[in-house]
Amino acid sequence: MKINGTPYRSVWRPLNDRKSIRIFDQTRLPWNLEELELRDEEAVAHAICTMQVRGAPLIGAVAAYGLVFALQNDASDASLEKSAAALVETRPTAINLRWAIERMVNHLRPLPASQRVEAGYLEADAICDEDVQVNEAIGRHGLELIREIWERKGRQGTVNLLTHCNAGWIATVDWGTALAPIYMAHDEGIPVHVWVDETRPRNQGSLLTAWELGSHGVAHTVIADNAGGHYMQAGRVDMVIVGTDRVTAQGDVANKIGTYLKALAARDNNVPFWVALPSSTIDWRVQDGVKEIPIEERSQDEVLFVPGLDAHGNQSRVRVAPERSPAANPAFDVTPARLVTGLITERGRCDASAAGLNRLFPGAARET
Ligand code: MRU
Repeated sequence: MKINGTPYRSVWRPLNDRKSIRIFDQTRLPWNLEELELRDEEAVAHAICTMQVRGAPLIGAVAAYGLVFALQNDASDASLEKSAAALVETRPTAINLRWAIERMVNHLRPLPASQRVEAGYLEADAICDEDVQVNEAIGRHGLELIREIWERKGRQGTVNLLTHCNAGWIATVDWGTALAPIYMAHDEGIPVHVWVDETRPRNQGSLLTAWELGSHGVAHTVIADNAGGHYMQAGRVDMVIVGTDRVTAQGDVANKIGTYLKALAARDNNVPFWVALPSSTIDWRVQDGVKEIPIEERSQDEVLFVPGLDAHGNQSRVRVAPERSPAANPAFDVTPARLVTGLITERGRCDASAAGLNRLFPGAARET
């Protein structure tokens, strides 16, 4: 995506230093657009845990480089296994992380240690390049849905979409998943407007999605997480579209906490609820998402404090609960497949079901 006319990805290898990567520190957005250099496995693990990088596809891509950094010090089998295990542990819900690390390990393990670093860089680069192509394809397939709505409206008014969390270009290597169709619709002149759930507690909606959409000139309105149902009842949401951190073989969808409530409200109001994902987000080993997907529990402080800018323009946080009140902070929830209108993947759309996924990805369930 372009920032002030310059095209960027959300992770890249600088041409003058091919042994480090750069990311945007997402904990500084939208106030500051700061590049952060990562050049060892510890820095990568820290960036993922603290959400300097976040979004399922992006953390997979960045973790792949983290594995290569570890091999620079020690390219033995033991080091490969140890670093792979440590990186997979950084965030438990997003399956793209495990997918990327397993892909790297399967590629590197058969090679002599002396070749692993160079081959590792190339494989991590390939993961990034493929992510861009895959998200572009998701965008094209999702765009068809927005076009259909626009045609049904007689090309009048606005197509109103609602999204939760951030599934835009900074959550992937480029384009995004749920936001890719929105960018494409906007670019081809369809008047789209996005209701952006603020997405407490980390506010990925108000901080990141609103920043992305605003930078691209897409009309949007930030709403409190509790407002979506109200706008659906009022007929002001044509479609909900979200990303996901893990989709099971039967089509259950894990995504940012609060997604499930949006799906319930959408079902009650006959609003289509679509989920956009690259196939690397499908966990073919898991069926029942509610029972089987591990839900990351994050720090209480994310709920007890709200971040913002102080009067001097410095990043700061404000406590929003009594001193002694504890908090709980599940970072994700699971939307059962029955509440999902359909999945948008790089191969097209399908039902959120085993049959739907198997039709698009024949044999994939057996191979994993
Ligand atoms: O905790 P986060 O910010 O990493 O959670 C991100 C999400 O839930 C996204 O919706 C999901 O990863 C899809 S990103 C294309």
